[in-house]
Amino acid sequence: MRRNIVAGNWKMNTTVNEGVKLISEIIEKSKDLSDVKLIVAPPFTHIFSVGEKLKGTNIGLSSQNCASEEKGAYTGEVSAEMLANIGVEYAIIGHSERREYFDESDEVLLKKVKLALANGIVPIFCVGEELFFRESGDHLDYVCAQLDAICELSDDDFEKIIIAYEPIWAIGTGKTATSLQAQEMHAHIRNVLADKFGEKAEKTSILYGGSCKPSNAKEIFAQPDVDGGLIGGAALNADDFIAIAKAF
Ligand code: PGA
Repeated sequence: MRRNIVAGNWKMNTTVNEGVKLISEIIEKSKDLSDVKLIVAPPFTHIFSVGEKLKGTNIGLSSQNCASEEKGAYTGEVSAEMLANIGVEYAIIGHSERREYFDESDEVLLKKVKLALANGIVPIFCVGEELFFRESGDHLDYVCAQLDAICELSDDDFEKIIIAYEPIWAIGTGKTATSLQAQEMHAHIRNVLADKFGEKAEKTSILYGGSCKPSNAKEIFAQPDVDGGLIGGAALNADDFIAIAKAF
């Protein structure tokens, strides 16, 4: 069975104190939640402090990125090994903001995915098209090409990963994909992965991201190939984040 997952991407928001307060509220309010795996991705500076709070809970700890190199003279980078060493279990890789503002290529992203996996970290691999590709009708092909990196993985590694579909035009814009647009893309992603990995693709959790909020999560999560959400803005408010998780 696929796992239902709701992951919060805090992006470059919250100080350490604010982050610790936020996670304390999330822990408190999620006590009666079952059947959904919660994951939080704080900024690097407070992963450790948030991780300390998460001890003894079922909430997963994620980074928002990891380095594409193992170690050494890469000023400013944080390696997968360092993250694993402080209890990080997941890493968001290939977020559209990283691809766009930091020029992360498919080649670099594949290196990050492989290093995360080699260190026991589950990649949450993000794909998604710009508005131009949707309007020209090329969105399915565009996202299919982004999955090439994943198709290079071994069967064993593939089984571990999570995919997030985040249409760029819906991120932080208040404009959400309709549930049918999400379902169309999620089914397409699963088919592309099934061509390479067969029925293993049935077990891959594919999350939707892009202006997901309590008011639209239920309809989106009800789609057969949508297994949860990667939440940005609404993940910074414990009530909204938990309300989204309760939408299953
Ligand atoms: P959003 O961001 O929910 O604020 O649109 C989602 C994301 O970028 O992961």
